[in-house]
Amino acid sequence: MGEATNIYPIYEKMMTRSDKEQLLGQRGVMVWFTGLSGSGKSTVALGVERELHKRGILCRILDGDNIRSGINKNLGFSADDRKENIRRIAEIGKLFVDTGVVTLSAFISPTNESRRMASGIIGADDFKEVYVSTPLEVCEQRDVKGLYARARRGEIKDFTGVSAPFEVPEHPALTLDTSVLTLEESVNKVLELILNNK
Ligand code: PPS
Repeated sequence: MGEATNIYPIYEKMMTRSDKEQLLGQRGVMVWFTGLSGSGKSTVALGVERELHKRGILCRILDGDNIRSGINKNLGFSADDRKENIRRIAEIGKLFVDTGVVTLSAFISPTNESRRMASGIIGADDFKEVYVSTPLEVCEQRDVKGLYARARRGEIKDFTGVSAPFEVPEHPALTLDTSVLTLEESVNKVLELILNNK
């Protein structure tokens, strides 16, 4: 794949992020959930979306299986593909944040390097990392999609937590262990993080 040349972005002529935030009466932010498969990232994000919507706050979820069946359907689970997956998601997320939207991304994003890249693309001030720390044993017990059992049988290679690494985030804004907290408690903690982001 080549790189585009002769391109002339029109950003200076566009309405600004702050114009859009004023229009919406809210601030754009990226809440970046990271954690193992089955840890509860999507479930918490869905709960947060519902609560924000009730409060009149415009929100967008970017979720693993949706993105991977659309824009990222040419990517697998090698280290390079996961990195490219996260890079594209961060670029898409930035468009939403720059439009004033509260954006919730729910991807394993297993390495510190990939999360650092995402934060760099979005901008550290707008990037709130939420580590869904539910232990592997619990995720594996839940095995909602039956993927852990298949990974243990060797039917899925490079499966995070089983045969591919997950690096614990170094300084998350929030940590949620969904085996200890109720869904409501987790959702409320994330809401607090968002609503205090003035
Ligand atoms: S990553 O690591 O951030 O690029 O992964 P992500 O885009 O979040 O995709 C994770 C979902 O894909 C399914 N799946 C796998 N996960 C991990 N490892 C392997 N090898 C794999 N193969 C398929 C799995 O359903 C993940 O969904 P979640 O929502 O995390 O449970």
